[in-house]
Amino acid sequence: MGLGAGWTQETTGTEVAKAFKDDIKSKTILITGVSPISLGESTALAIARHGPAKLILASRTESKLQQVADNIVKMNPNIKAELIVVDLSSQADIRTAARRVYALTNRLDILVNNAAVVTSARSETLEGIELQFGTNHIGHHLLTSLLTPLLLAGAKASGEPGTTRIVNVSSMGYRLSPIRFHDYSFEGKPVPPEEEPPKGIPAHMKPDVAAGRPYYGFTAYGQSKTANILHAVALKERLSSKGVQAFAVHPGSIWTNLSRNLSDDDRKIIEGTSTFWKNQDQGCATTLAAAFDPDLCDAKEAYLSDCRLHDVAEYAKDQPIAERLWQLTEKLTEGKANL
Ligand SMILES: NC(=O)c1ccc[n+]([C@@H]2O[C@H](COP(=O)([O-])OP(=O)(O)OC[C@H]3O[C@@H](n4cnc5c(N)ncnc54)[C@H](OP(=O)(O)O)[C@@H]3O)[C@@H](O)[C@H]2O)c1
Repeated sequence: MGLGAGWTQETTGTEVAKAFKDDIKSKTILITGVSPISLGESTALAIARHGPAKLILASRTESKLQQVADNIVKMNPNIKAELIVVDLSSQADIRTAARRVYALTNRLDILVNNAAVVTSARSETLEGIELQFGTNHIGHHLLTSLLTPLLLAGAKASGEPGTTRIVNVSSMGYRLSPIRFHDYSFEGKPVPPEEEPPKGIPAHMKPDVAAGRPYYGFTAYGQSKTANILHAVALKERLSSKGVQAFAVHPGSIWTNLSRNLSDDDRKIIEGTSTFWKNQDQGCATTLAAAFDPDLCDAKEAYLSDCRLHDVAEYAKDQPIAERLWQLTEKLTEGKANL
């Protein structure tokens, strides 16, 4: 059963995981961004039901991770998730977390880069990078690079090319912005027209000037989600010949805690962005399809929505742009994928 199975926007993660339950059993899986009432939780629960070889949950808040781990045990007492506390807005913390992953396993089969932050007001990572780009993209790029040897070990051990996967949870919100190479950190530097938000983006993108310079929270979120897709494009180019596939997904529109840092005005804008709201179980279906669907082993495309491959704007799939972002990111992480 695969993409032809008639999945729709209403398909649940529970259904997708059940379809691939035999594949899940042998896998060591790491998911970032796991809190109660989040897509990280529904992804973890859907997977845990089928007894993966190892389930590693990595997120910022220990008490929330523990709550999800408790919910998993209630559902499947045979599964004990390993928990890793990591702040993806700190590169030092990411390196420490990666070392902990190496202490837990010598292979990784599925890496789900799911954590994200959305904010209306500008702030920065520990390294001084705009927070949404720095956390949602730079943090996950660094984590992925550090864990790539484990993914390569997983691919080698499985002997089934393309079943070892990296899944970046992106968003249709990528449409709000290309990568602003000339001002990725929103420091008020001029950007050329091709780095501005695409034409037709609503005029509600009002600047927040509280930080002393214009800041467009949704534009910054859009840039970070474009980066998630381009990261998958670059990973596919680098790793698919070594048996590791990479995808980015739009999970749909789901009420989670994602909007917690938005202004009231921005939250109202979000309310008007969808005609179909998924529940949390539906919201993890596309992530699970990207992680396990065997029909995707040879896929050249990198982006899925509603459990199927979808096209994206040129600025989110162009190989040279993906490579340029890779080089920028290597620079911002000091180019060192060493522990
Ligand atoms: N919900 C939607 O409608 C929607 C639509 C499109 C795309 N997405 C994408 O789906 C993914 C999951 O979002 P969600 O809706 O489940 O949001 P959520 O409920 O806010 O969950 C986000 C998760 O990321 C964690 N996180 C945030 N900052 C972090 C950091 N610095 N270090 C480590 N972990 C951090 C959060 O931890 P804490 O709770 O401890 O802060 C939380 O576990 C995101 O990539 C988002 O962009 C969601």
